[in-house]
Amino acid sequence: MWYEYLILFAIVKECYAVITQLNDTEYGRMPALFELDDYDTCLRKFNSLYCLARLDLFADPPNDLIAVINEYSEYTAKHYNHSYIERGVCIATTCKKYINNTNSNILDLNASLEACLNQTIWNNYGLQAKLTHIFYCNKQDDEIKYDWSDWLFGGILAVLVSINIIGSFYDLMLEKYYQDKKGDKYNNENPYILCFSIPRNWESLRSIKLKDYRVEGLKGLNGIRVITSFFIPIAHVMWLIGTGFTDNPQEIEKASESTHYQLIFNGLMIVQIFFVISGFLMVYNLEVLSGNVPVTWSLLPNIFLYRLWRLTPVYFLMILFTATWLRYLGSGPLWKLYVMSVVSDCRQYWWAHIFYINNYFPEDKACAVHTWHLAADMQLFVLGSIMYIATKSKGRSLVITLLLLFSMAAPALHVWFQDLDALVIFKPEFYRSFWNETYRYLHVLGHNNLSCFIIGMVSGYFAYSWQKNRVEVFRHKIWQYLAWCVVPGVVGLILTGSVFYTETRLSLVIRMTYAATHRAILGVITAFVILGLVFKIENVQRHLLEWDGWVVLSKLTYCAFLLHLNMVHILLGARTQLGHVSFFYVVINHLGIVTLSYLAAIPLYLMVEVPFNRLIKTLIQDTMEMNKKKL
Ligand SMILES: *[C@@H]1O[C@H](CO)[C@@H](O)[C@H](O)[C@H]1NC(C)=O
Ligand SMILES: *[C@@H]1O[C@H](CO)[C@@H](O)[C@H](O)[C@H]1NC(C)=O
Ligand SMILES: *[C@@H]1O[C@H](CO)[C@@H](O)[C@H](O)[C@H]1NC(C)=O
Ligand SMILES: *[C@@H]1O[C@H](CO)[C@@H](O)[C@H](O)[C@H]1NC(C)=O
Ligand SMILES: *[C@@H]1O[C@H](CO)[C@@H](O)[C@H](O)[C@H]1NC(C)=O
Repeated sequence: MWYEYLILFAIVKECYAVITQLNDTEYGRMPALFELDDYDTCLRKFNSLYCLARLDLFADPPNDLIAVINEYSEYTAKHYNHSYIERGVCIATTCKKYINNTNSNILDLNASLEACLNQTIWNNYGLQAKLTHIFYCNKQDDEIKYDWSDWLFGGILAVLVSINIIGSFYDLMLEKYYQDKKGDKYNNENPYILCFSIPRNWESLRSIKLKDYRVEGLKGLNGIRVITSFFIPIAHVMWLIGTGFTDNPQEIEKASESTHYQLIFNGLMIVQIFFVISGFLMVYNLEVLSGNVPVTWSLLPNIFLYRLWRLTPVYFLMILFTATWLRYLGSGPLWKLYVMSVVSDCRQYWWAHIFYINNYFPEDKACAVHTWHLAADMQLFVLGSIMYIATKSKGRSLVITLLLLFSMAAPALHVWFQDLDALVIFKPEFYRSFWNETYRYLHVLGHNNLSCFIIGMVSGYFAYSWQKNRVEVFRHKIWQYLAWCVVPGVVGLILTGSVFYTETRLSLVIRMTYAATHRAILGVITAFVILGLVFKIENVQRHLLEWDGWVVLSKLTYCAFLLHLNMVHILLGARTQLGHVSFFYVVINHLGIVTLSYLAAIPLYLMVEVPFNRLIKTLIQDTMEMNKKKL
């Protein structure tokens, strides 16, 4: 009968009731998500243990409170899952009654801990708790065990530092020699050792001399790069408060309702700006190059090797550091949870990072997560340059169009087949569990970020040819007005992501359309900005972006980008008390981390990045001179 269906429907509906909001009194009835006993005083006690555990809440028979908890947790777009809780417990104080001898075997500990926590929860809330996971138990004298990888990193560090010291002294001695014998050129100087001279590299960091008019036209890119990478760490700083062990998690649950948090959450898309720049520079440089030498297949390995050589030394050092010394840089109740997971993933997957394929390994959850961008960029670069050479003579516009269509279809198809969201939605549980399907299966994969790279390539091509043929494309006044719309436009685009923070997911078509288009739209805006800089559409903003300071900062950006995430890990792991959710903390932490990572980037840049860059340049020069001599 039709009304039977109606009743059935009503029942089904009832089962899936979702509580979207609770007032403070109601919220306070639920057990706190996180609690941490005092760590240092605990470990100071004789024979003490400090355990970090996860418990599932239940009630048998079910009661009103557990229903509220489950229904509240059902709203995953905005709420944490309150049906499990995490506790840092000092056995010697909190569970004294349950443990006769803390040295007893671990099975005993397991049962006692459960009984102890269950009793506390039972007394306070009338719920039962089942121990589902003991992350680890810390003792006072956990000894440090160094292994060969620690020595490897230490050895490499020592070698690098000594070469730099030798190089610097060598440079200073040469200088003195020149001063003593003016004008008499010392012919036997070794250019390879001089690559490691810190004074010289410092000069090259400070210098803002630009080589020719072409590079002059691209000066504003430094501004874009620095400003964009200034905002990148905010998303990671949100970890500090979103990941849990905070005393007011309800603030995170309310966060998606406020504009400033929405800007941070959906601001994840600004990384696309880098892909546009990358595609632009690749084509532009290849076009410039093809003015001097024929760009053919035989040049390709050299181009790849040069790029790998420029990026990899610093990157490798950072991964090696993360896999080794990072774990000794702190301690605390949460250290193993937040830092050891990163370290162990890096020990397992370092090779995927070195080969720039880590973004296709979803199992690699924690190791240097920000470097998915490097991997994707490398993959796009390889694809783009192969395409550039393959279509040198004909078919370029056809291939570009096809690739652009593919690049927009790919994310949409992912959404369809894997039932993903249109963009990464910052559900509270994403931070807590480190896992989000849209992030892993869509956001970080190289081919899903292709559209912006292609748009960048196209604009690089046009920029070069318009510059060469002195075509004035942007003479009309309307372009100037458009230039002023860029910043509001980008902010507006970012805010459109907020429509996806709803109780029930939006329909598949909307999600697919958004997934297909939003990157490309941002890409077109960015391409317009770059062309605007090259062809000087609007002067106020251009002068802002062409400030000399950006040039210097931009050189440090790569190192700073690589370094910043480890600071987040350290801050997270070194916490001994519950954190506090507040936007002000986000801002302060963000500014602190950005500043620190730029400061830490200076020695890395001077002692690793520049020396290795100069090394390859010297090598190339030498081989070219040798070839000339042979001819
Ligand atoms: C909170 O909600 C409960 C149930 O909906 C209600 O009984 C209570 O009066 C509310 N408390 C406040 C302070 O609004
Ligand atoms: C919340 O966590 C519990 C326990 O791990 C799990 O059974 C439940 O499915 C989760 N709820 C949601 C909505 O994910
Ligand atoms: C502790 O040991 C005493 C005697 O050895 C025993 O009676 C008691 O049940 C034990 N308590 C627990 C919690 O195991
Ligand atoms: C939790 O404690 C209550 C009260 O002591 C008890 O009735 C219940 O069986 C315990 N549950 C578990 C899972 O230990
Ligand atoms: C606790 O011990 C029980 C019984 O040996 C085991 O089934 C369970 O997995 C253990 N729980 C944890 C969190 O280790």
